[in-house]
Amino acid sequence: MLQFSDQCASNRYRALPSKKKVWGCRRVPQSRSSSFLAWCACAAPVLTCSQRRLHSTSLPFSPVSRLLIGRLETLSTGTHPTNLNTTMSQTQLAIVVGSDITSYSLKSIDVPKPDADEILVKIHAAAQNPADWKTIERSFSNEGFIPGCDYAGVVEEVGSNVKKVKKGDRIAGMVHGGSFRAGHGCYAQFVRVDGENFFRIPDNLSFDEAASCGVAFQTATLGLYHTLGLPEPYDNVRDKEATPILVWGGATSVGLMVIQLAKLSGLTVITTASLKNAEYLRSLGANYVLPYNDPNTPAEIKKITNGKLYLAYDTISENGTTQLVIDAFGSDDDIPKGKKKELINLLYVPPAMLDAKADTVTRHSLLAYTMQGKEFTAYRVHLPAMPAHYAFSIHSYGILERLLKENKIQPQRVKILGGLENVPEGFVYMKEGKNSAEKIIYHPLETRT
Ligand SMILES: NC(=O)c1ccc[n+]([C@@H]2O[C@H](COP(=O)([O-])OP(=O)(O)OC[C@H]3O[C@@H](n4cnc5c(N)ncnc54)[C@H](OP(=O)(O)O)[C@@H]3O)[C@@H](O)[C@H]2O)c1
Repeated sequence: MLQFSDQCASNRYRALPSKKKVWGCRRVPQSRSSSFLAWCACAAPVLTCSQRRLHSTSLPFSPVSRLLIGRLETLSTGTHPTNLNTTMSQTQLAIVVGSDITSYSLKSIDVPKPDADEILVKIHAAAQNPADWKTIERSFSNEGFIPGCDYAGVVEEVGSNVKKVKKGDRIAGMVHGGSFRAGHGCYAQFVRVDGENFFRIPDNLSFDEAASCGVAFQTATLGLYHTLGLPEPYDNVRDKEATPILVWGGATSVGLMVIQLAKLSGLTVITTASLKNAEYLRSLGANYVLPYNDPNTPAEIKKITNGKLYLAYDTISENGTTQLVIDAFGSDDDIPKGKKKELINLLYVPPAMLDAKADTVTRHSLLAYTMQGKEFTAYRVHLPAMPAHYAFSIHSYGILERLLKENKIQPQRVKILGGLENVPEGFVYMKEGKNSAEKIIYHPLETRT
């Protein structure tokens, strides 16, 4: 996934209003980023492995942003219902990537048919992740692909081998939208998903809240438990030492989950965020919240931890955050005997961007898509299926389901943008860095053409 290469800086791309009435961004002519190949070459081998609800129907946009949004075009003929009936429709509305792979439009396409090991889900809520807009804008997608990785909905049809759920059950989870295969993402009214790899939505959770969990929770557990091997929330052994962990970017979707999980595992949580989010992050379990834009923050963290910090989860992994995390770590002499300094990166950070202290730190680059258990190819680089990640994913959903049912973890605060026709607005909002400790949610069944 090219978006994991932080060398694909946004200044290499220019967003242009489309002449063809489709949304999208055109790439500034430059050679294909070699940094993606570098990321894959480097990261693939180390792939180790009552809530507050914010509702909004519209967002403030600058005139420039509005230019980017362009006009909606449905490429299908005829009219479509804004809501699908309960009787099964043969077609659905979805956001589909165009032939130039950097534009997308709302289209009428066939409802997919689930395989024997799959489930067809009618999507009531789809959540937005940064990968959704990055995948399209940075040319990582393909014609006919559907973006969107987080869904929550109702089981519409069950493959003949699936035993875990029945028609009418409420389920949620993540898929590999945008860059895995055509017709696969969640910015659609239906999606077919693996018959095992999802969670059942507890009664105390809305579709919106459930949709906010998948990518963020799975990425958090892949790092904390599968990679770092920390005690899980339902393990009998909690971390009795209250080991400190630094969560850089605590107000990100992933960070909000990492904070809660690390707390449940018995760790002491130090995090960075805008201070307007400090109280919220403390309510989720953060012991210390420091500003990420203060150059003294690494030194302050060293003071708080008496120079003993050796674990960190960098949910940002760009614009120099990994160096700041490394600066906050203790020295080899000060950290507890037998421990090594370890840090999770969610984007590829080239070693050349870090100083010599980085040599003493084991960095793990994660890619949550590996939890789908399928091989995939992106830009001629092949990532093999990872059965251990798939098995862990199913296990992790079990933890999530139980934690949600027992109110031990909070889903994210949501900002509802309505139907899929509002995806361009959501992309601009996120690209401009306006989302803060919240998840953007669409209601595909309310899509208007
Ligand atoms: N490798 C993977 O499998 C994987 C999985 C998921 C996500 N990701 C990547 O991980 C990153 C985070 O994704 P997300 O969905 O969790 O993010 P998100 O929810 O969109 O993050 C928004 C938050 O980022 C915080 N932030 C911005 N700059 C920061 C900085 N320099 N230091 C600390 N916090 C900062 C802001 O905090 P304030 O509001 O407090 O200012 C804001 O609330 C993205 O690049 C995404 O593509 C990778």
